[in-house]
Amino acid sequence: MTLWGSRMTSPPAEDMMAFTASLSFDKRLAPCDIEASIAHVHGLAKAGILQMDEVDQLVDALRRTGDELAEGVFEFHPADEDIHTAIERRVREIAGDVGAKLHTGRSRNDQVATALRLYTREQLILVAGLVIELQRTLQRRAAEAGHAYLPGYTHLQRAQPVLLAHHLLAHGWALARDVDRLFGALERLNSSPLGAGALAGSSLPLAPDEVAAELSMTNRFENSLDAVSDRDFVVESMFDVALIGVHLSRMGEEIVIFSTEEFGFIRLDDAWATGSSMLPQKKNPDVAELARGKAGRLIGNLVGLLATLKGLPLAYNRDMQEDKEPLFDTFDQATLALVAMEGLLSTCVFDTERMQAAADAPGLVAVDLAEWLVARQVPFRDAHGIVGAIVRESIERHVPIAELIEAHPAFGEEALTLLEPGTALRRRRTPGGSGPEAVALQMQRFSSRIETDSERLAAWSS
Ligand code: ARG
Repeated sequence: MTLWGSRMTSPPAEDMMAFTASLSFDKRLAPCDIEASIAHVHGLAKAGILQMDEVDQLVDALRRTGDELAEGVFEFHPADEDIHTAIERRVREIAGDVGAKLHTGRSRNDQVATALRLYTREQLILVAGLVIELQRTLQRRAAEAGHAYLPGYTHLQRAQPVLLAHHLLAHGWALARDVDRLFGALERLNSSPLGAGALAGSSLPLAPDEVAAELSMTNRFENSLDAVSDRDFVVESMFDVALIGVHLSRMGEEIVIFSTEEFGFIRLDDAWATGSSMLPQKKNPDVAELARGKAGRLIGNLVGLLATLKGLPLAYNRDMQEDKEPLFDTFDQATLALVAMEGLLSTCVFDTERMQAAADAPGLVAVDLAEWLVARQVPFRDAHGIVGAIVRESIERHVPIAELIEAHPAFGEEALTLLEPGTALRRRRTPGGSGPEAVALQMQRFSSRIETDSERLAAWSS
């Protein structure tokens, strides 16, 4: 019989149960439910509702149930609607009469909300760790890149040469903001709903503050209605992870482009590339493509849940059960993607000769030529006009830019040094810009940022 069967005159229809049950996907919440249930039992003891021997019996039964679930020997019953009812049913079987006291002062509404917060906390910590790993790989590859450079692009048209390290760290800083957002989400979710009951609290002298402390949560709920109906933490986590997905997708897109024969900037390691079933010559960047593809799925998960929540009145509604599958999927896919992208990036080979050859095209120093004039008191707009005209003339008359620069009254031979490979890049001096000194400083700042974030993460993991 279900936990609520006594109210009904007939048993639940099988198809109704098939439609409403969440057991198939919320099983993974078992360890979190057990942890929260043990804290709840201790809370009932602190409130004087349970005697010590009852606490021991209930905690033992909860632990045994947890072990059975972990070992895969737990027997589910057809009336188990979700993991929470399954665990309570089993505790009653093991502990006998005292088992019926487990659900005192508690509803599945605050129970589910608590277990899901604990699960989300654990997953966000895991994701943050993987993002930091990826940042470390970017940092290592950036250090190895030394002074190698490639064209920087805008509109996917060659714009200015930039250091490869600078390009790699650009992705690293986006991930740094992601890590920061994960910490923000962790702080906000770390509040315990237990004690809110179905929606309004209880007439029993519960101890929600103590329960929150046992769960290493910063505080208890402020409002019981909000406690059981709030899924902001799910949405926020899904957004944060979807944005990580978008960042991986943008990296993936570049790897796809850069590994084409047309670009030839990156060669993938064989272990991280796939072949074609028909075309023997192919080596495909499937990891990068799937990183790009999965982002769409993560965005879909987020938008789907927002739509589910938007029309819900307070407090709990069964619609909210729909939070779990997209959340779990988001975590599963993002963790796979983070690990795979780290593997891909840590093993690929950068063809810096090809990168530099592409970046040495004279057009890429056009703005440096204009700035050379600015340094000689020419207003920038005029300088821009002079260089633009030289570029146009070079294209129309098929004359090398160098020749035109040398012959131009505003430039002359001295300006030709700007066209030498790597010179323009070395002259760049803006802090945070792509010049070698600025990038060296940036590397230091990036590595100290990683260290700070690792310490913040360690504080969450302990
Ligand atoms: N499995 C449900 C969920 O995930 C449990 C909550 C059911 N609560 C209720 N009042 N029917 O949301």
